[in-house]
Amino acid sequence: MIQTREAEKNTALLNVDQIREDFPVLGRMINGMPLAYLDNAASSQSPRQVIDAVKLYHESHHSNVHRGVHTLSQEATSLYEEAREKIRAFLNAASLKEIIFTSGTTDAVNLVASSFVEERLNEGDEILITHLEHHSNIVPWHILCERKKAKLRVLPINDRGEIILDNLDDYLTSRTRIVGVNHISNALGTINPVKKIVEAAHRKNIPVLVDGAQATPHEIVDVQDLGCDFYAISGHKMYGPTGIGVLYGKQELLEKMRPYRSGGDMILSVSFDKVVYNELPYRFEAGTPPIAQAIGLGAAADYINSIGKKAIQNYENMLLDYATRKLGEIPQVRFIGTAREKASLVSFVIDGVHPHDVGTILDGEGIAVRTGHHCAQPVMDRFSIPATTRASFAFYNTTEEIDRLVAGVRKVIEVFDA
Ligand code: ALA
Repeated sequence: MIQTREAEKNTALLNVDQIREDFPVLGRMINGMPLAYLDNAASSQSPRQVIDAVKLYHESHHSNVHRGVHTLSQEATSLYEEAREKIRAFLNAASLKEIIFTSGTTDAVNLVASSFVEERLNEGDEILITHLEHHSNIVPWHILCERKKAKLRVLPINDRGEIILDNLDDYLTSRTRIVGVNHISNALGTINPVKKIVEAAHRKNIPVLVDGAQATPHEIVDVQDLGCDFYAISGHKMYGPTGIGVLYGKQELLEKMRPYRSGGDMILSVSFDKVVYNELPYRFEAGTPPIAQAIGLGAAADYINSIGKKAIQNYENMLLDYATRKLGEIPQVRFIGTAREKASLVSFVIDGVHPHDVGTILDGEGIAVRTGHHCAQPVMDRFSIPATTRASFAFYNTTEEIDRLVAGVRKVIEVFDA
């Protein structure tokens, strides 16, 4: 395979062959071909370091947290709280009290909707989101607006898939109770100017929730620098386990919020007359939490740090450029989402061929991509298409895998005579 000089230079930044050895699943054969896993935006694979951390916990340290004086409970509690510290540092949050373990981004957005926005939202108030949002940052707001007779307003996007900010100030009104925006669009890869949006909203004292599910694997996320009020992430998008996520929230806001779910561990004392809630962050972690998953997430943050976020970005940008150029050489491929600031994914259609057929043929070649509306139907509507084929890259992907993707797409065009 002939690589460009630029690709060779960037590849040298990461030892991808060695990195791939850390990911057992990448050694699999799928339909007689080596797996080319290009569906990282849906869920990324876990390295052995994450798998081993979870396994070690189950084999040697499992018990319930915050509840026992015995050794195993103390060990489990330490590991769980160490994971919280790892995520605090990873997001550069000011305090451990600001890191709440959730089951994922969806859960985190629902927590904010239920515990923060609901009691501040009255009839005629507004919630502002963007046309780029994932369903998880649309539906909770839609439900709330329906119940409260409030209005869901939507910042438009342009033909590149970038949020149009020209009239942002007009969308931020005296009735706006929260702004919800994703850091990186899962459907198109657009990197949104989150800091700018936060600054504009804060000038009018409007809080901002950022859906960071797609950002933590690619971007250097610093919640203090962004200035956002809430930031939601998912473990399984950043090489960690499923069933775990985090809500970062500014302490001063979390302190004022009512619990989301209720039960054990989120209380200080309970009688039939009175319940005193626990301090942060435990107030928002009712019941036995996903202990093993949190420990796995901490290990995932360690793993990302060990490679280096800057090196990851440089390498993934190279993959994005390479894929864009190679797929762009095929006249039948039409990219959906051509933002100037873009993370490492390509979404495209081949006119006359349904993406599910593209995905099926690619699977036959051992290539995993996502096809469909990507839980972002409004984005599809904006471009008047039902679905796209999306290839999303991680630091363990290679230009060779992209060459296979390109060859697979050419095969699709041949089969369908497109
Ligand atoms: N949000 C995930 C995706 O983009 C499921 O595929």
